Amino acid sequence: MAEKKIIIAIDGHSSCGKSTMSKSLAQMLGYIYIDSGAMYRVVTLVALRKGLMPNGEPDVAKIIPELKNIKITFQWDETQGKNTTFFNGENVEEEIRQLKVSQNVSPISTIAEVRHEMVKQQRENGLTKGIVMDGRDIGTVVFPDAELKIFMTASPKIRAQRRFDELKEKGQNVDFDEILQNVEGRDKIDSNRAVSPLKRADDALILDNSNLTREEQLKWTVEKVKEITSGR
Ligand code: DC
Repeated sequence: MAEKKIIIAIDGHSSCGKSTMSKSLAQMLGYIYIDSGAMYRVVTLVALRKGLMPNGEPDVAKIIPELKNIKITFQWDETQGKNTTFFNGENVEEEIRQLKVSQNVSPISTIAEVRHEMVKQQRENGLTKGIVMDGRDIGTVVFPDAELKIFMTASPKIRAQRRFDELKEKGQNVDFDEILQNVEGRDKIDSNRAVSPLKRADDALILDNSNLTREEQLKWTVEKVKEITSGR
């Protein structure tokens, strides 16, 4: 009998390794991986390119009509072992990870119409099971019936250090305090926004990885998947 395929929702704070773990998990299980944060980053990139974020404030009335022209897709890059994000066919993976986008993405993700359109595109991806999606509201809003929900977190300092190392490795000139401020600022906006705030679903398992290696987290998660798919 074919193994039962499920939806795995991974939510949690920014920079706590959600996407790294979700990618490895999807690869191991032969599932599709969808990075929902990348989708909000694409909308932010479009707003920045079109000058619709004067002084860091989104021009909501002008951003809303843009949404219908934004088609976001993902492709798994086998050679690099990573997911690539496309905006209307253009590879924007590098650009959406830059600090400029990180600094502007939270206000964009508080716009109800933006969330509505992104959730619609995210649910389309879940029509066939066998998917790992990470974000902030996957277990609470996008897939409230997901068979496995995990809420990941780690201390702000550890998360800032990880992002700092990641950007440094890419050759970007970054300042640790600026990153820590960005991490803490995003936590605050993500958790306090009116629409779909970052919140653990009642039935989500907590995974605090402050003191865990990637391998340890993955092992823990795979065990949870096995418990569900084998009906243990
Ligand atoms: O996971 P990330 O850091 O790439 O996410 C970028 C931003 O998008 C983050 O500030 C919160 C927002 N986001 C969201 O509001 N809902 C999601 N499902 C995913 C991300």
